[in-house]
Amino acid sequence: SDVITVGELAKRMGVKSKDLITELMRQGQMVTINHPLDYETAAILASEFNYEVENVAFDEEHVLTDDAVITDESGSDEGAIPRPPVVTIMGHVDHGKTSLLDAIRATNVTSGEAGGITQHIGAYDVTVNGRKITFLDTPGHEAFTSMRARGAKVTDIVVLVVAADDGVMPQTKEAINHSKAAGVPIIVAINKMDKPDANPDRVKQELTEFEMVPEDWGGDTIFVEVSAKTTANLDSLLEMILLQAEVLELKANPHKRAKGAIVEARLDRGRGPVATVLVEEGTLRIGDPIVSGLHYGRVRTMTNDRGDRLEEAGPSCPVEVTGLSGTPVAGDTFHAVESEKVAKDVATHRQRKIREQELATTSKISLEQLYARL
Ligand code: GTP
Ligand code: MG
Repeated sequence: SDVITVGELAKRMGVKSKDLITELMRQGQMVTINHPLDYETAAILASEFNYEVENVAFDEEHVLTDDAVITDESGSDEGAIPRPPVVTIMGHVDHGKTSLLDAIRATNVTSGEAGGITQHIGAYDVTVNGRKITFLDTPGHEAFTSMRARGAKVTDIVVLVVAADDGVMPQTKEAINHSKAAGVPIIVAINKMDKPDANPDRVKQELTEFEMVPEDWGGDTIFVEVSAKTTANLDSLLEMILLQAEVLELKANPHKRAKGAIVEARLDRGRGPVATVLVEEGTLRIGDPIVSGLHYGRVRTMTNDRGDRLEEAGPSCPVEVTGLSGTPVAGDTFHAVESEKVAKDVATHRQRKIREQELATTSKISLEQLYARL
């Protein structure tokens, strides 16, 4: 027969039964979840429901930007001050990205990693002559290509690592393409110069194909010949990064609610969802309500890559954050918002939008089909 229960219709539409019951109540019908609806009522209800959702459409953009300046005394958005550069290390697998970063940090992350392959994008900040640089270490493995593509978007400068004994390889080209697509300047680090078969000229020759020509060959691409193993020339690499950063005149306003990007995220047994975030604007503080993708919460703890607990994190600062309701997606944005309720509203709105999209692709036919089948 031509009937469907409120509960079944809600399921089909991808909304809560409660919301349908409320809508019916608004129309003067007191019903329960098992109440049967005829086709007409179900169809009208479905269209009305969507119609209403569209009309009171939650203005996410407004909520996320509304009143964003909170501590700037003038209440304006003119408080931008210089910020550290965010540098992403890219390059072919095994060309020495992590080793280079290790040598720079004077620590040894590689030895602790499973199989010596970087599993996800790590974020670190180093201080060179009193000036900070934030580094993102992207995985070199083929499977992480999409993550690497995201990595390029929060990046100010790319350091393209090419092994002097191996030359330009498939993922070197990918890295160049991602960087160029994102409009990010590239500094080339020719690594493994300590190796007897190191051939930096071949690397330079191969890169001319991508319009990357060294200054001493009449071009304007910066090349630095380094060795992560002997640490040779790492100081000039850092110098070049800081020089390039100066040219870019990077600025951000710390006097705002924080927004930024999720660099990596995982579910930790003890601590729950743990996200490494990069603050792009504003200042993130303990207790701030935040939303990222479909997840929300309050910042419970903030830790830097050296394990120090932080109370706040300003522009370009990478920190590990706990307190989210779920594990966010690497590459997604995050926003600090006015209250936990707003954070929840944004997340819920996004969840509903996804359900609606799923519904939009299946609903019209499936409702018909559903009745055809009954
Ligand atoms: P993925 O993260 O897997 O893409 O690799 P990666 O680019 O981070 O390379 P990684 O730093 O793990 O180094 C790969 C191998 O090259 C390791 O065995 C390093 O010890 C070695 N290596 C890295 N840099 C140098 C260098 O300057 N000289 C020499 N001789 N070996 C190096
Ligand atoms: Mg690595």
